[in-house]
Amino acid sequence: MEKIKEINTDYLIVGSGIAGLFTALNLSRLGKVIVITKKDLSESNTSLAQGGIAAVSAEGDSWESHFEDTIRAGAGLCNKKAVEIMVREGPGRINELMKMGVSFDYKGDQLDLTREGGHSRKRILHARGDRIGVEIIEVLSEKIAVSGNIEVHENTFLLELLKSNYKDEDRVCGVLARTGNLFRAYIARAVILASGGCSMIYSNTTNSRAITGDGIAAAYRAGADIMDMEFEQFHPTALYNPPEPFFLISESVRGEGGILLNKKGKRFMPDYHPMAELAPRDIVARAIYNEARKDSRPYVWLDVRKHEVSFLKKRFPLIYSTLKEKGIDMAKDLIPVAPAAHYLMGGIRTDLYGRSSVKGLYACGEAACTGVHGANRLASNSLLEGLVFSGRIPLRILAEEKDVRFPMDRLDIELPEFVTAFQAYNTLSFDEDRQEFREKMTERAGIEREAGGLISVLDWLEKNRGICGKREKLSDEGYELMNMMTVGELTVRASLLREESRGCHYRKDFSESSADWENKHIVLNKNSGSEVIVL
Ligand code: SIN
Repeated sequence: MEKIKEINTDYLIVGSGIAGLFTALNLSRLGKVIVITKKDLSESNTSLAQGGIAAVSAEGDSWESHFEDTIRAGAGLCNKKAVEIMVREGPGRINELMKMGVSFDYKGDQLDLTREGGHSRKRILHARGDRIGVEIIEVLSEKIAVSGNIEVHENTFLLELLKSNYKDEDRVCGVLARTGNLFRAYIARAVILASGGCSMIYSNTTNSRAITGDGIAAAYRAGADIMDMEFEQFHPTALYNPPEPFFLISESVRGEGGILLNKKGKRFMPDYHPMAELAPRDIVARAIYNEARKDSRPYVWLDVRKHEVSFLKKRFPLIYSTLKEKGIDMAKDLIPVAPAAHYLMGGIRTDLYGRSSVKGLYACGEAACTGVHGANRLASNSLLEGLVFSGRIPLRILAEEKDVRFPMDRLDIELPEFVTAFQAYNTLSFDEDRQEFREKMTERAGIEREAGGLISVLDWLEKNRGICGKREKLSDEGYELMNMMTVGELTVRASLLREESRGCHYRKDFSESSADWENKHIVLNKNSGSEVIVL
C-alpha cells in the first residue's frame, strides 16, 4: 500500500450521470460519499440526452399503459416486477427532480409532452427543448456542491474493484483508481457502479467517448454476474456525416412528425410496422439498415421540412444549431441518418435494489441489468430507470451494510497482485487496435449477426489478447481497450448462445424468435461460466 494513497469513505460511487449523482444525493443522508468520474462532472451519457424522460403525468394516461408499452417493446424478455416498479415509482421521482429545481418544458400551464417510438401516447417530458440531460445534470451538480457530505473526484479512472475476505465473506470493499499519475485505494462500506454501458465497442455510436464498459468489465473480473449482454440497442437516427462522430437526432424529431425516406424519396416505415416511424427502436433501426442496403448507401433521409424554422429552433435548439453548423438547414434540407450503437440493455445483474451478486457491490443506470428493458428499451425509459433504481439503493444498503465494521482492517483487503509491482505506465497509442476492434464488432456483432461472424470476432480477440500488455503497465487508454475487449467478448459469447432473434438481437441464421428463449436471460460469470435463468 506504500505507493498508494488510501482514502476512506462510507460509500464510493463510480460515474456521474443521473444514476450516479442521484444515488450520491440519497446516500449522503446515510454517510460520507465520494463520486469518482473518469472525465469531468459535465461529461456523461446523461449530459448528451436530448429527447426526454418517459413518465405518466397526463390525464387519461396510466401506469398500466406505460407498463404495457414497455413490455411490448421489450419483446418477451422484460422483468415484469422491475417494469412495474419503474413505471409506478417514476412519477414520484420526477416530482423530486422538480422540487430540486429541474425545469421541464411547459405549454401554457401544462407539461409539454411528446411521443416517441413504441409509446401508445404522448408521455415524454422534455427540458430546454432538446437538452434534458444538461438540465438534469446541472441541477443535481448544484445540489451535490452544497450537500456537504459528497466529494467529487474528477478525471479519476476506475482500474479494479478491491475485494476483502471480511468476516470470511468475499466482498467488495473499495476500488483502485488512478488520477493522472496518482494511484488511490478508495475503501468503502459499499461500492456503487453507475459507470454506464459500453457502446464505444462499436465504431458508430451516439455515446460519449468515455463509455467503454469499465465498470462492467471490472465487475466481471471481480466475479459478478453479468446478464443480457447480447442486447445492445442501436438508435435509428444518428447524423451520418463521416468522418465526424455520429450525432444523435432525437427520436422526438420523429415524435413531432419527422418521416424517413429512401433514396427515391419514398416513405418506407409504413411498409414495416403499423406505428411507422414511431415503431419500437429495433424495428426502425433494422428497417433503415435494410433500406440503406437496398439503396447501396450507408444512410437514409430524415425529413422534417413540414415544420416552420421558428418551431424547429425552439423545439430542437441543439439539433437545429448543430446541423446548421454542418451546413444542413432542417427546415429546408433532408438529413442523412443511420443507426448507431446507443444503449446497453444488459450489464451487471442486480436485484430490484441495485444489489449485485457480489457482496458490497451495487450497480444502477446503464451499467446495471435488472431486466427492466428486456430485449429492447422503450424510448426515454433510460433516464427514468436511472432515477428509480438508484433511488432504491439506499434502502438495501441501510439493511445490508450497517454491520460492516469500518474502516475495515487493512489486512483483510486483497489488493490486485499487480499493484505492488506497479511501474510507470506505458504511453503506447492503441488507436489502430481500438479502431480495428470496433469495426469488427460493428460488422459482425452489430445490427445483424450470424455464427460465423461472431466466431471470427472471438478468434480475433483470442489472437489479440496480448495487445494491451500487462495491467501494471497500462495507461488509461490501454485499460479502456482491455475493458472494451472484455465486454465485447461477453457480448459475442451471449450473442452466440442465443440462437434466435429477439428485440435488438438479430441473428441472420436464426431469424425468428423462439418460444424456448422467451423470458430467458443469459448470465455470464468469470468463475462459473454461463447460465440461462428465468426471472
Ligand atoms: C432520443 O432522444 O432519441 C434518445 C432518448 C433515449 O435514448 O431514450
